[in-house]
Amino acid sequence: MYLKKLSVISFKNIAGASMEFTPGINCLVGDNGAGKTNLLDAIHYLSMSKSAFGMTDSQSLGHGAEFFVLEGGYDDGAGRSEQILCTFKPQVGKKLRRGEKEYSRASEHVGLIPVVTVAPSDSLLVSDEAEQRRRFLNGILSQTDRDYLGAVVRYNHLLAERNKLLKSYVSSSEELLEVLDMQLATAGDMIHTKRRELVDQITPSAGELYRRLSGDGEQVSLEYRSQLNHTTMAGLLSASREKDVVMGFTTAGIHRDDLLMTIDGYPLRKYGSQGQQKSLLTALKLAQYLLLGRKCDTRPILLLDDLFDKLDMQRVERLLGLVCGEEFGQVFISDCNKLRLEELLGRCGIPHSLFGVRAGSVEAL
Ligand SMILES: Nc1ncnc2c1ncn2[C@@H]1O[C@H](COP(=O)(O)OP(=O)(O)O)[C@@H](O)[C@H]1O
Ligand SMILES: [Mg+2]
Repeated sequence: MYLKKLSVISFKNIAGASMEFTPGINCLVGDNGAGKTNLLDAIHYLSMSKSAFGMTDSQSLGHGAEFFVLEGGYDDGAGRSEQILCTFKPQVGKKLRRGEKEYSRASEHVGLIPVVTVAPSDSLLVSDEAEQRRRFLNGILSQTDRDYLGAVVRYNHLLAERNKLLKSYVSSSEELLEVLDMQLATAGDMIHTKRRELVDQITPSAGELYRRLSGDGEQVSLEYRSQLNHTTMAGLLSASREKDVVMGFTTAGIHRDDLLMTIDGYPLRKYGSQGQQKSLLTALKLAQYLLLGRKCDTRPILLLDDLFDKLDMQRVERLLGLVCGEEFGQVFISDCNKLRLEELLGRCGIPHSLFGVRAGSVEAL
């Protein structure tokens, strides 16, 4: 699927813009603060019904505006097209329309137009918080697997119930705890199985992409760390029950999972250079792209925000070579240096469309 036409009204700092894109490479250039990332986020928002950067609907509303509108025409190049309209007004909320039909819930839209974003904020994935990495795994699986999304929602709800019960535990609480544990066990085991399958699926591809991006032979490995790797969720809950009652919360479960990334055996977080970290995270996102493409049966849209962020010229050149390959579809690239980007694309002989973004307005160059 590729985005053919986009109109934006009052989305963040973009007061009004209307554009036509190519199915290939689209470049957005402009100074810092011009609105390039906001425009990419508008594309993400319309395609996935939410911000790529965790912004709420209200935060995405242009300052002083009463509503925002995003409208896009998509095409798969083989006869299928989609017209998507998204509006948001504070008292009314978000409305999403596919053709003539309004979705009853925005989440129904997720998966129709897959998008993968590579952005400076990916560096959060190597932060201290395992939560970021669980969110990454959840994000990939939710785009292709509705059962998974349902299980995560259920698990989080049950976990909150269980923690509430443990906080004010009395002996008569035991019966309810049994019931909650049984339900948590089903959801937890399913989430664990699917996360493990996912990590197994993307590991070889991420390693290969890393080598192609970095141009060296370092071995990359991804390891899914979970207390459930050696037991079941029911076993885990019953083994930790006494401790949980004393502590007053659930100490074990898939909410403690992590994804360990290493290069040549050394943890990326502690020992990786910025270039290595960025290359591996980009490789991980591209592996996600290829997997999504296979599962959704359409090539996702790729958003490369701040192309040169933490990558040297050579790696950027390899990255461009990769995303021009036939496994990839429509790509949006943002960069603050028009000359640098044009020079590079020209040198590599890559056809592209160019858009200038300035103070929230966009024009084809
Ligand atoms: N809801 C909003 N309404 C109006 N302006 C906003 C909103 N959210 C962010 N901005 C502005 O958008 C600008 C940043 O745009 P951004 O897309 O990040 O720029 P860049 O071109 O550097 O990627 C900032 O000036 C910021 O104040
Ligand atoms: Mg930006």
